[in-house]
Amino acid sequence: MSKVFSALSVSVDGYITGREPSHGRGLGDGGVLFNWYGDGDTPSKSFEGFRLSAESASVFDELASSVGAIVCGRNTYDDSGWSAGGKPHPTAPLVVLSHRPAPASWPAQTFVSTGIEEAIAVARKQADGKDVGLQGGGVVTEALKAGLVDELVLHQVPVLLGGGRPYFQALPGHIGLELVKVVPAPGVTHIHYRVVR
Ligand SMILES: NC(=O)c1ccc[n+]([C@@H]2O[C@H](COP(=O)([O-])OP(=O)(O)OC[C@H]3O[C@@H](n4cnc5c(N)ncnc54)[C@H](OP(=O)(O)O)[C@@H]3O)[C@@H](O)[C@H]2O)c1
Repeated sequence: MSKVFSALSVSVDGYITGREPSHGRGLGDGGVLFNWYGDGDTPSKSFEGFRLSAESASVFDELASSVGAIVCGRNTYDDSGWSAGGKPHPTAPLVVLSHRPAPASWPAQTFVSTGIEEAIAVARKQADGKDVGLQGGGVVTEALKAGLVDELVLHQVPVLLGGGRPYFQALPGHIGLELVKVVPAPGVTHIHYRVVR
């Protein structure tokens, strides 16, 4: 069954960017968070140019191949420079949640301004039975508040960044998590949770 999940690279102190992320410099000074995409010798089956450790490639490709559409927040879109037409996944279309209009129009990008429920509904249609991935701490938090997240993956990198954008922002209460699996790999530990509802 189609799931909504988020799988982000995160520091041990909970940041998905370092300090001062900006247009074209999406991780700020936290570039170390993505080192594991390229520090191995196993090519990804889904993302051209990625060479991961064998352990990470297995986790990464399983997730990447399940994705049919992605919802990201406006900060992720801006910082990643996707107004030039890019998107985070080679085949999955991108839905951007923003209060502001799209700065440019591209066939594989849809802007939604009416809230996370609508953004995920649009993405589910586009995903055509596959999973919906979430990107950006703001969007993940909105989706958690709306009770729409099935699974969370933390690609936890052994560093304390000391500042940046958090994976999780404030929530109105507790949300329970059930551990699905942990995969230790060189330079990163993949921690997979199911959200208890
Ligand atoms: N480490 C990783 O794996 C990873 C992966 C993806 C992204 N990132 C990084 O994460 C950073 C972004 O995370 P973030 O938490 O700052 O932001 P985000 O979730 O990408 O975007 C938040 C923005 O989305 C819009 N938004 C959120 N909820 C909305 C709603 N209900 N209705 C309409 N618009 C809404 C708002 O923008 P407006 O009001 O301005 O429109 C809000 O400021 C980027 O720097 C990116 O590079 C890291």
